[in-house]
Amino acid sequence: MSDSIHPASTSFTDAANIKPDDYERLYRESVEDNAGFWGRIGERLEWFTKPTRIKDVSYAVEDFRIRWYEDGELNVSVNCIDRHLGERGDKTAIIWEGDDPADSRRISYRELHAEVCKLANALRNLGVKRGDRVTLYLPMIPETAYAMLACTRIGAVHSVVFGGFSPDAIAGRIADCGSKLVITADEGLRGGKKVPLKKNVDEALTRAGTNCVETVLVVKRTGGAVDMQMPRDRWYEAVVDGQPEACEPERMGAEDPLFILYTSGSTGQPKGVLHTTGGYLVYASYTHECIFDLKEDDVYWCTADVGWVTGHSYLLYGPLANGATTVMFEGVPNHPDIGRFWDVVDKHGVTLFYTAPTAIRALMREGEEPVRKRSRKSLRLLGSVGEPINPEAWRWYHEVVGDSRCPIVDTWWQTETGGILITPLPGAIPQKPGSATKPFFGIQPAIVDAEGNTKDGATEGNLVILDSWPGQMRTVFGDHQRFIDTYFKTYPGRYFTGDGCRRDEDGYYWITGRVDDVINVSGHRIGTAEVESALVAHEKVAEAAVVGCPHDIKGQGIYAYVTLNAGEEPSDELRKELVQWVRKEIGPIATPDHLQWAPGLPKTRSGKIMRRILRKIAENAPDQLGDTSTLADPGVVNSLLEGRMNR
Ligand code: WTA
Repeated sequence: MSDSIHPASTSFTDAANIKPDDYERLYRESVEDNAGFWGRIGERLEWFTKPTRIKDVSYAVEDFRIRWYEDGELNVSVNCIDRHLGERGDKTAIIWEGDDPADSRRISYRELHAEVCKLANALRNLGVKRGDRVTLYLPMIPETAYAMLACTRIGAVHSVVFGGFSPDAIAGRIADCGSKLVITADEGLRGGKKVPLKKNVDEALTRAGTNCVETVLVVKRTGGAVDMQMPRDRWYEAVVDGQPEACEPERMGAEDPLFILYTSGSTGQPKGVLHTTGGYLVYASYTHECIFDLKEDDVYWCTADVGWVTGHSYLLYGPLANGATTVMFEGVPNHPDIGRFWDVVDKHGVTLFYTAPTAIRALMREGEEPVRKRSRKSLRLLGSVGEPINPEAWRWYHEVVGDSRCPIVDTWWQTETGGILITPLPGAIPQKPGSATKPFFGIQPAIVDAEGNTKDGATEGNLVILDSWPGQMRTVFGDHQRFIDTYFKTYPGRYFTGDGCRRDEDGYYWITGRVDDVINVSGHRIGTAEVESALVAHEKVAEAAVVGCPHDIKGQGIYAYVTLNAGEEPSDELRKELVQWVRKEIGPIATPDHLQWAPGLPKTRSGKIMRRILRKIAENAPDQLGDTSTLADPGVVNSLLEGRMNR
C-alpha cells in the first residue's frame, strides 16, 4: 500500500522545469562529469570574477579539502537583490504575514535593496567588518531578512539563533563564534503570546565568554518595555535612519564564510556548521528552482523559521537568488484558529507550499473540515522536510490539502548539506508516500553496513554520500578536526549522514531516521548529550540518560532516565522541576516528554550506557531488549521496566 506510485499529472509534467525524460540523462551527466556540470550551473549567478577552478575535493583524512568555485568572486546580497532590480524591481520579494491576520506587508525587490543597504551602512559605521560574526536572535519579521542580507553585503558572517532558545544557549553560541554585534527585537509575537527576546539577550550577555559583544541592535516589534543599556544597546530604527539607500557590496571569494548555524550532534555541545559563499548559493538556488518547479509568477511559502537551515536555504537565499516571491510568516498554524495556513494560502495566492510532517500531523488530527472550508485553489505543489513523513500523513497532505492535484516533494537534507540531496523532481520522478525517492543531480548516495561495506540493490543500512556537492558545509567553526572526525572518519572517504536508509527495488530511498544519538523532535535536532548535560547540571541529579521515543505528532519525543543523588527522593514535584530546568537550560524545544526515575542505568562492565536497551524500554518493547548478559548488573533492566509503569 505504501508503495503506491503517484506520478504528477500530465498538465504538471508538460509545464515542468525538469521533464520525465530529463532526469536520468541529466543525472548521468552530472555524475560522469561532475565538475563540468557544476561549472555550467554556476553560471546562473552573477560573479564579479567568474570562477575557473570549479571543484577541488578530497575526502581523504590526511589530505582533506572541499573547495568549489575557488577563484570566483561574488556577493550574495547582489545576487539576491541588485541583479533583479532591472526586470523585477517592483516585483514583491517578500510577503510578510504577521502573527495577527490583520498585519501583512509586501516588500518589493527595490524596497528590499534600500532597507538592506541602509542596515549594511549602519553596520559598517558600527565597526562591523568583513569576516566579523554577527548573532541574530529575532522573530520572523522583515528586519530579520534585512539583517541576514546586510551581513552578506559587507561580508560579515551571521549566526542566527532560533528565538526559542534560552539565554544559556544564546550565550554558548555567541561565545563560540565571538560575535561582535547582536541584533534582536524587544519582543517576539507568536500565537498572540509575547516572547521576551531582548530580556533573553540581556541575560545571555551576563554569562561568561560573551564580552566579545560590543553592540546590541534592538528592533521595535511590540513596543514592550525593555531595559536599554547604554552605550551597548541601540535602537535599530535609530541607527538605520538617514543611512544612504546604496551600499558598496564587498567582493567575497567563493570560499569565504557566509554563515554559521549551530546544530546538535551526537556528542558534546552544538557545532557551528560553516557554509561558504559561492557553492552554497549555487546549490540553494538551483535546487530551489528544480525541486519546487519555480516559475516567474509563483508565490512560494516555506513555513520554517529562519532559525533553522530550511529558513536559510529555502525561505531566504534560494528563493531570492531566483528572484521569487517568498512568504515569511511570523505566527503559528493554530492562531487565531487551526485554518490559519490555508487562510494565508488563499490570502496571498500561494502556489508552492513547503512545511514539516509534524505540522501536517497536528493539522490532520483536527480533521478535514478546516482545510476543506478554504479554497486552496492556487496551490500547485507541496513539500515536506525535517523528518520522515509517514505514508498516512503523506496521503492526507496529498488528498486533503492538495486535493490530489499537487505533487509532493519529500526533501531529505541536513544543516550540513546546505540544500536538498534526495528528493523527487516533481514532474520527473513519480512519488511514493514516505520515500524521499531519488538523488538530486550530482549526488551519489550509497548504503553501507556497520563495517562500511557498500550494499547494492534493494537493501538497508547507513546512508553515506560518495562525492561532494557545492552546498556542503566546509568546517565546524573553530574546530576543523571535529568536522573531519564527525563526518569522514566512520566510513573513510565518504560523508556519513548519521541517517539510516532503505533502498527499494526501484532504487527509491527511504530515510529511516537517525542512527546516532540525535533525536528529531518535530523536525528539530536535539542531541541526547545536550539534554543529559542539562539534567546533570541540576544539583539533585547524579546521572541521566536520554533517548528518543515514538511520538504521534512530533515524530520523536524526548525520554529521560534520571538517577538522583543519594539522599534525594523522587517526587512528582521534582519531576516537574527537572522538566522546567531543561526548558530553562536549553529552551522549550528540548522539554522532556517523559522523565523516568532510574535507580541505576544499564551499563556494560566498562561503564558504557547501553542506549539500545533504554530505547526499547522507552518504546515499550520489552520483548526486543536483545542480549542483556553483557551488562554489569542485568537486574537494572527489570527495575527500569517496572519503573516505566509508574513514571
Ligand atoms: C532528518 C533539516 C526523512 C534526517 C533540513 C536528517 C529527514 C535531519 C528529512 C537533519 C526527510 C530531514 N525525510 N528525514 N525528508 N529531512 N530529515 O539538520 O534525520 O535540522 O539527518 O536539517 O533531519 O535535520 P536538520
